[in-house]
Amino acid sequence: MNLYLNGEYLPLEQGKISVEDRGFQFGDGVYEVIRVYRGKPFRLDKHLARLEQSVKGVEIAMPEPPQKIGEICLKLLEGITEGQIYLQVTRGTAPRMHAFPADLRPTFVAYAKAVTPHAPDRMYTLKTVVDDRWGRCHLKVICLLPNILGKQRAVEAKCDEGLFVREGVVTEGTSSNAFFVRDGALLTHPSDNHILNGVTREAVLEIARQQGVRVRFQPVPLAEAMHAQEAFVTGTLTEIMPAVSIDGKPVGTGKPGPVTTKLRNAFREMTTKECG
Ligand code: PDD
Repeated sequence: MNLYLNGEYLPLEQGKISVEDRGFQFGDGVYEVIRVYRGKPFRLDKHLARLEQSVKGVEIAMPEPPQKIGEICLKLLEGITEGQIYLQVTRGTAPRMHAFPADLRPTFVAYAKAVTPHAPDRMYTLKTVVDDRWGRCHLKVICLLPNILGKQRAVEAKCDEGLFVREGVVTEGTSSNAFFVRDGALLTHPSDNHILNGVTREAVLEIARQQGVRVRFQPVPLAEAMHAQEAFVTGTLTEIMPAVSIDGKPVGTGKPGPVTTKLRNAFREMTTKECG
């Protein structure tokens, strides 16, 4: 039973949702993706805190208290060692109309699946795409059209990830946060309404603090990003991934650099320690 749907544990393929669910009709909902290492969720508390922030931000009620959601997540992990948990809360099911009825019961879905870990030497190529998302990118909402179209443009260009650029400035990846290295310091967009403040991003910042790597929170102009010595993207499923080219032009030497490699190794140690 790797699925929990509105109070019931089921096999994943038996989950059924109404065609009048507002998530299906309007993209009216929020989500989380949590990585599982050695059968243990990584930073579950941070994901649950962000879920709470997201539901609040779009005026949906929390379907269960965070502690109960945490317990549900753990129950779904039977037989899973390397995996992911997907959580989704939509506003609920009601006859279609834009304004929402009061006291709707949210639809709550949680399921777990196995993940194939990345090869340790995996690296990404990036393609820039226009960031034409709305002004509340800090909320993890399920309306992901700009993200999926951006990723699609990247894949069509035989790249691994799309790099969102808004008014000449790099914001983040289509499903990851972006970092650049310049003179040994990390540059990353401030955590404001134009990016999702990633749980992995926060872990990287923690490691940078521990290791004495300087961090500058600033919108990075694309021209500056193209001349960075190193670049990498981060995310729950992406982990820390060196980015070796942007729009076909090599970043630095075109190979993962020393700062990225150091942080990537430290992140692996962190997941081993926390999910040991
Ligand atoms: N996405 N920015 C965006 C737009 C994202 O979609 C994600 C993650 C991140 C990184 O956040 P975190 O480190 O908390 O995973 C940043 C998930 C994994 C997804 O949509 O599959």
